[in-house]
Amino acid sequence: LAKIEIKLSDIPEGKSVTFKWRGKPLFIRHRTPAEISAEQSVAPSSLRDPQLDSERVQKPEWLVVLGVCTHLGCVPIANAGDYGGYYCPCHGSHYDSSGRIRKGPAPLNLEVPPYEFPEDNLLVVG
Ligand code: FES
Repeated sequence: LAKIEIKLSDIPEGKSVTFKWRGKPLFIRHRTPAEISAEQSVAPSSLRDPQLDSERVQKPEWLVVLGVCTHLGCVPIANAGDYGGYYCPCHGSHYDSSGRIRKGPAPLNLEVPPYEFPEDNLLVVG
């Protein structure tokens, strides 16, 4: 199926849950207030792939990204690494909780797929 529906009340704050979408891992992260304010205060000029947090999320509480490392495609681990977002153990890429590359060999931020919130509690990816 091209689209996946996710009930957001099933994902507690602070958790990143992995789904499968079009054969790829999809990470949905319910960000904490501390994560949101940390990511919003990062200066894009300090980043390898400069993007504001607000360009990567539609609602600050929800990060929606593909779980595919932009280096060579391994699946990163949630809530790990120096920036607390995701860590790719294959060659040591560290992503923040906006899915932006912060350290290691990966060249780009984790990809944000097309998605929408048709209702408050519902996310549709695809
Ligand atoms: Fe992730 Fe190489 S595939 S760091």
